[in-house]
Amino acid sequence: MAFQDFGMLSERRKAERKEKHKRRITIAAAIGFVLFILLASGVMLINKSKENKNSQDQNDKKSDSGNEIAKWSKAIKMICAPTDYRQACESSLSKMNKNTSSNAHSPKPLELLKASITVIADEVEKAVHNSSKFKFSNPAEKDAFEDCKVLLADAKEELLESISSVGKGTDVTNLVSKSHDLNNWLSAVISYQQTCIDGFPDGKLKTGMKKSLDKAKKLTSNALAIVSEVTSLLSALQIPGFDRRRRLLGQRETMRPMTQSYVGDDDDEDGLPIWMSHEDRRMLKGKGPSNKPKPNVVVAKDGSGKFKTISEALAAMPKKYTGRYVIYVKEGIFDETVTVTKEMVNLTMYGDGSRKTIVTGNKNFVDGVRTFQTASFVALGEGFIAKAMGFRNTAGPEKHQAVAIRVQGDRSIFLNCRMEGYQDTLYAQTHRQFYRSCVISGTIDFIFGDASAIFQNCLILIRKPLDNQQNIITAQGRTDKRETTGYVLQNCRIQPDTDLEPVKAKFKNYLGRPWKEYSRTVVMESTISDLIHPDGWLPWSGDFALKTLSYAEYNNKGPGANLKARVKWPGYKVITKKQAQEFTVEPFLQTDWIKNSGTPVKLGFFT
Ligand SMILES: *[C@@H]1O[C@H](CO)[C@@H](O)[C@H](O)[C@H]1NC(C)=O
Ligand SMILES: *[C@@H]1O[C@H](CO)[C@@H](O)[C@H](O)[C@H]1NC(C)=O
Ligand SMILES: *[C@@H]1O[C@H](CO)[C@@H](O)[C@H](O)[C@H]1NC(C)=O
Repeated sequence: MAFQDFGMLSERRKAERKEKHKRRITIAAAIGFVLFILLASGVMLINKSKENKNSQDQNDKKSDSGNEIAKWSKAIKMICAPTDYRQACESSLSKMNKNTSSNAHSPKPLELLKASITVIADEVEKAVHNSSKFKFSNPAEKDAFEDCKVLLADAKEELLESISSVGKGTDVTNLVSKSHDLNNWLSAVISYQQTCIDGFPDGKLKTGMKKSLDKAKKLTSNALAIVSEVTSLLSALQIPGFDRRRRLLGQRETMRPMTQSYVGDDDDEDGLPIWMSHEDRRMLKGKGPSNKPKPNVVVAKDGSGKFKTISEALAAMPKKYTGRYVIYVKEGIFDETVTVTKEMVNLTMYGDGSRKTIVTGNKNFVDGVRTFQTASFVALGEGFIAKAMGFRNTAGPEKHQAVAIRVQGDRSIFLNCRMEGYQDTLYAQTHRQFYRSCVISGTIDFIFGDASAIFQNCLILIRKPLDNQQNIITAQGRTDKRETTGYVLQNCRIQPDTDLEPVKAKFKNYLGRPWKEYSRTVVMESTISDLIHPDGWLPWSGDFALKTLSYAEYNNKGPGANLKARVKWPGYKVITKKQAQEFTVEPFLQTDWIKNSGTPVKLGFFT
């Protein structure tokens, strides 16, 4: 499958070598699954028994229901077998068993899968209910609770979306086509739960919230396991139209032709930045109105647009709108907290250049704002696209956590943007995100969160921290090994910003550190300057997560890419091209949404 850990990947490779053996296993699994589908959904049996039922007497019905229960518990055992919390899985689903066993049908795998998601929603609801009884001993706890309410509401909403998407149709191929979305939603649900817990200051309530959400998290992990198991078995069965990824592997990767381009020119006086790729450069050279989509509204500080602030323009956005809604933000520094809400779907916002149209702020942790709420710009709506804009948090390193932009919405794209901050600049929080030709600068953990994000052709600038600090580019926060999240830096340049350059020898700089247990980050085809420490990666605390994390490098160059002295953690690997393939755009993010946006994207490798 597309998202397995390196350990599992190499296991698979081993298995592939013993091809005969594997084939036998696959066939056995396939036969088992076919039997499972046939038995569990009882296609033939049911129809037959339904016909018979009408004419049967009470006694027959009783023995039927005994059979049904046996069938149910067998099906539940099978569907729960691949999960990590099997007991939680079986007990939660067997509740459903009791309630539905009197119905005149046997469990279908899709129903069980749906049920496995429904029980999460129930559990989240319970946790919300439980936490509403919390007694807060300080404002920080109250605030954290407010964040939790929002986060868990998002979690519930996405669970319901998942259920309804599984529910549309009873054939298994529908599930297969939805598996990426399901993985993505369920991973986000885990992330919301974790973010909720993280928001509390250490203490009784944090422990309480953690306990309340424990079961929900386990059940979410289970649901991910079930989705992945069912789809990989279907893949083994080679159901037509399913294994899209494998077909793509056979194709030659080519640059997608640009259908449209609407990127503003950056304001570098000596033309385009030297790090920019040939394709992007060519695209950006095209100027004039045809390169920008016609905006629905224009925001301009000088009054030449309909609105003077971005927030006003967003507030005026129609509740229902078909197609893409476009806001053009003219040159200027916008000192406002901007939130693209969940309701604002398919919005494109573009500026006059990432150094001309800038959203700025300076909220920060030291001044008493929770990291989660410090962002100058928050992108929650699905399908958000930003182009040629800058996002800043100017609080400075002494103010610690201070987010410039937080991105939560699925299918978010940032093209030719600039994220500037110090600690925690870019909170790539959840869902699928694609960053192309962006400049991202900061000091500590300045790309962090639990999204599935690819940073392609980006310039990563490390800035001067406080004297006692060291710099870390990424702190990816995957908390469960079933989550399909991770960060990929591909064809990026990693180098010091101008303030760090003259003093860079004084500071240690790292590619990443594990914020959470299953932190996953891949740096590939990138140019790494000598400022990166030979270790490459930094522990979070003691040996926390060093076995469970997945960090990898592939085909990097530059003096900082020397692998000789890299960390020797079990979770760190130098990977092969074949392994790295899993982290290219198509398998990792699924690309229709990127291609349709007209954004330049390299689907495979650069070299
Ligand atoms: C099962 O049914 C009972 C009574 O109808 C209900 O209270 C309970 O919530 C149901 N359980 C599940 C898991 O749906
Ligand atoms: C809710 O709280 C009760 C008691 O306070 C506890 O027994 C129960 O396990 C909690 N439920 C959840 C889902 O946390
Ligand atoms: C947003 O755009 C996507 C892709 O074009 C489309 O499938 C979806 O229905 C749109 N959503 C809304 C609410 O318009």
